[in-house]
Amino acid sequence: MSSQEPNSEPRTIQIFDTTLRDGEQSPGGSMNLVEKLEVAQALADLGVDVIEAGFPIASPGDFESVRQIAQTIRGPVICGLARCNDKDIDRAWEALKQAPRSRIHVFLATSAIHREFKLKMSTEEIVERAVAGVKRAASYCDDVEFSPEDACRTEHDFLCRVVEATIAAGATTINIPDTVGYATPEEVHARIVMLRNRVPNIDRAVISIHCHDDLGMATANSLAAVSAGAGQIECTINGIGERAGNTALEEVVMAMRTRADLFHCRTNIESTRLVPTSRLVSKTTGLSIQRNKSIVGQNAFAHEAGIHQDGMLKERSTYEIMSPADVGLSKTDLVLGKHSGRAALADRARILGYTLSGEQLQQVFERFKDLADKKKEIYDGDIIALVQQQISTTSDPQWTLVDYEVTTAKDRTPSVRLTLRHGDEESTETAERGDGPIDAAFWAVGKLTGIELVCKDYRVRSATLGQDAIGEVVLEVEYKGKSYRGVGASTDTVEATILAMLSAINRIAAERPQVAQNPSPQPVT
Ligand code: KIV
Ligand code: ZN
Repeated sequence: MSSQEPNSEPRTIQIFDTTLRDGEQSPGGSMNLVEKLEVAQALADLGVDVIEAGFPIASPGDFESVRQIAQTIRGPVICGLARCNDKDIDRAWEALKQAPRSRIHVFLATSAIHREFKLKMSTEEIVERAVAGVKRAASYCDDVEFSPEDACRTEHDFLCRVVEATIAAGATTINIPDTVGYATPEEVHARIVMLRNRVPNIDRAVISIHCHDDLGMATANSLAAVSAGAGQIECTINGIGERAGNTALEEVVMAMRTRADLFHCRTNIESTRLVPTSRLVSKTTGLSIQRNKSIVGQNAFAHEAGIHQDGMLKERSTYEIMSPADVGLSKTDLVLGKHSGRAALADRARILGYTLSGEQLQQVFERFKDLADKKKEIYDGDIIALVQQQISTTSDPQWTLVDYEVTTAKDRTPSVRLTLRHGDEESTETAERGDGPIDAAFWAVGKLTGIELVCKDYRVRSATLGQDAIGEVVLEVEYKGKSYRGVGASTDTVEATILAMLSAINRIAAERPQVAQNPSPQPVT
């Protein structure tokens, strides 16, 4: 299937990461600004060629995160998404213009279904709009990507026409999305070959592939496109994304590396950063990784069956096609303690996937010292929980925890006395109600902040082994029809829950300043 002779130099396939754009569209997977910057830095350290940082017109928050990523992240090309209209494209450029290397990615649907039912536009209008969009983007920046949305369900003749016209208008990358995850590997291969054979100016652009995983074929489809001559894969860490998600970056990268004999391709990815980056994204988005997930799942390198273990002991390659070390799976869970300094903490956090700025490091270090007083040995899981709590906190939290006291006993109504700070003011509420201390804490936080949350999911897990481990609470709540996530970590589960609630409330306040300025207590049921 390869488009390259085995003896020639391997082709370099560009890795276009869209974790922060398509990935962030995962239900419940949204990130705040600090989290996005943390993930963007991890992607740069991983060696991706392009970071699609967001969709600047979508919201002021999206605009700001693309702008800050463009301003601060060095290495990859920073890309912003835009529909084919002047407002979108101008806004994308405004966000991107400070990046040393930037790309505007414009898209317009081309399939008959989208033309007829969504856009209500003729084929002529689509070509005209696509060309105008690419021209406007090219007037700002010489790196322009065009995506005919739903390309894999678009008629061949019309797709060729749009692709030829947009390359002539200045597109330097043509991305072929399988928007609804409908295509099979054979079809994708044939479609790329068809474009290469039929579009006269196709050599002036890089062909890219963008697959969704609705039928579980995104990785196979992306690799089929590469075999047919595509030079860029669009993908996300852990395959997160809209609906069933996008192509998983770690899967295509390791497939091309492990089967270099077949693909004759390479990437610029530093594979030992795959597991740390995967864990960072999972922790940051709250989207957990299934245990048997390829490459980065907890069981990906675990051998349970006796026959397999025996084979492994005799010769690793009997049952292992990749080395765990190659993907950054470290067996050592290094222990830190109260004598460990800031540099050791920063170093370990970095190995675990987090690059902490001076102020962040200071705050995590303070919490690390408190924890070291309670707990002799601090493991990787504890450090991840502390850092995660820090980066999930909005940069200027409106509400912070001052103090709490909980009383609970069998067959007695629980009671919580809670003090929060909002600006310079402290207020206290006592709640003697509910069917447990968590329920009572929920009520008291709602009463004090005036924000009525509906709890949709509440997960608590221990960050490490042992009864003195940190408890990590991940909360999904709904406020005015929108879902928000909160993360809290403490050796006390009630405190972790209150911190998780405040983290969610501070996200709401950051998004809705009117709520933050006017905390009027509401009835909480
Ligand atoms: O899936 C899709 O079609 C997209 C485009 C915007 C590239 O995400
Ligand atoms: Zn997509």
